[in-house]
Amino acid sequence: MIAVVLGTRPEIIKMSPIIRLLRERRADYFIVHSGQHYSYDMDKIFFEELRLPVPEFHLDVGSGSHGEQTAKILTGTESVFLQEKPDTVLVQGDTNTVLAGALAAVKLHIDVGHVEAGLRSHDRRMPEEINRILTDHMSEYLFAPTRESRDNAVQEGIPADKVYVTGNTIVDSVQQNLQIAEDNRGILDRYCLERGKYFLVTAHRQENVDDRFRLRNLLKALEALHEEYLMPIVFPVHPRTKRRMQEYQLEVPHNVTIIPPTGFLEFLVLEANARLVLTDSGGVQEETCILKVPCVTLRENTERPETIEVGSNILTGITPKEILQAVEIMLEGEANWTNPFGDGRAAQHTLDFIRNG
Ligand code: UD1
Ligand code: UDP
Repeated sequence: MIAVVLGTRPEIIKMSPIIRLLRERRADYFIVHSGQHYSYDMDKIFFEELRLPVPEFHLDVGSGSHGEQTAKILTGTESVFLQEKPDTVLVQGDTNTVLAGALAAVKLHIDVGHVEAGLRSHDRRMPEEINRILTDHMSEYLFAPTRESRDNAVQEGIPADKVYVTGNTIVDSVQQNLQIAEDNRGILDRYCLERGKYFLVTAHRQENVDDRFRLRNLLKALEALHEEYLMPIVFPVHPRTKRRMQEYQLEVPHNVTIIPPTGFLEFLVLEANARLVLTDSGGVQEETCILKVPCVTLRENTERPETIEVGSNILTGITPKEILQAVEIMLEGEANWTNPFGDGRAAQHTLDFIRNG
């Protein structure tokens, strides 16, 4: 029996191809939702859009400090595992839900399968980097999206025969949903956006938005971006960022359209039709690469170096000058790179490896 543990927006989106396939294969599985994300537009909307089954277990942990949140998920998943006795626990990515779910499982001698293993930013100040490293080292199966991520794990001493290169399930997810999304392009009309003639922005990384100076700089940069290119800027705001904007009393430049987080289908439409995307999100760096839309990453490092290598993405500091320079470079290039994240069969490879492993 397989337990699928998830808890945040990107985990739901990236686990969805695996859950769909488990259902298709009539496998013995169940879902545990930690409740790390709980607002409708960060959680339920994705279950509805992606037609995922309601999780059998919901831990309802909500927000809190790292220690508090991780501890609640640890004890919550432990009692579910003790009761249900799964053979394998699957976690995806690098959130507190992933770390806690994996730790609960490994202490009960249950095999952990880490989907999207081996990513490294080499920046240990990021909570996600700690979560990734620890989860990889607790895992029996490491599903690495690329050869590069596989090598990261092996270089840390993880036995090579535990690491499988599967591609990233985000490719499966984009392929399975892009057409449905493109058939529902109403969001472009709603915000008066023309194909290829607007910028899309997302930002939620703790290092960026929990720092008043950096967040203020980002907003200033967006104002400068509009002045330079005279194109609309649309910014679906993550709840963490919304909270910080209010707390720091930062004014949003009048030419930036702030909207609530969108569902996955509408977000795919926004991404696929943007002239360029500015982001600090991991998933968005991958999706823009897959969709052939240039990306500027508002960070000094990335655990997705493949996007930089193929030329779909560039890193930048947070000052207006740095951001404008990065945008200019990316607008000059042609979007003719190849997608390094696999062929859209990552879910299939992942489940086949568990069966044969
Ligand atoms: C978490 C992950 C991050 C991931 C992101 C995806 C960790 C350490 N961080 O960051 O790696 O990229 O999810 O989006 O696991 N909030 C709501 N509604 C919600 C969820 C959060 O209002 O449904 C607000 C709360 O004020 C909360 C804040 O957002 O305190 C941050 O939420 P949290 O889950 O702690 O971290 P994220 O920034 O979402
Ligand atoms: N996303 C979404 N609506 C939004 C912003 C993002 O559906 O308003 C999706 C996006 O397509 C991607 C995922 O959320 O698949 C990325 O999540 P996030 O940026 O929160 O986390 P990260 O990938 O950085 O962990």
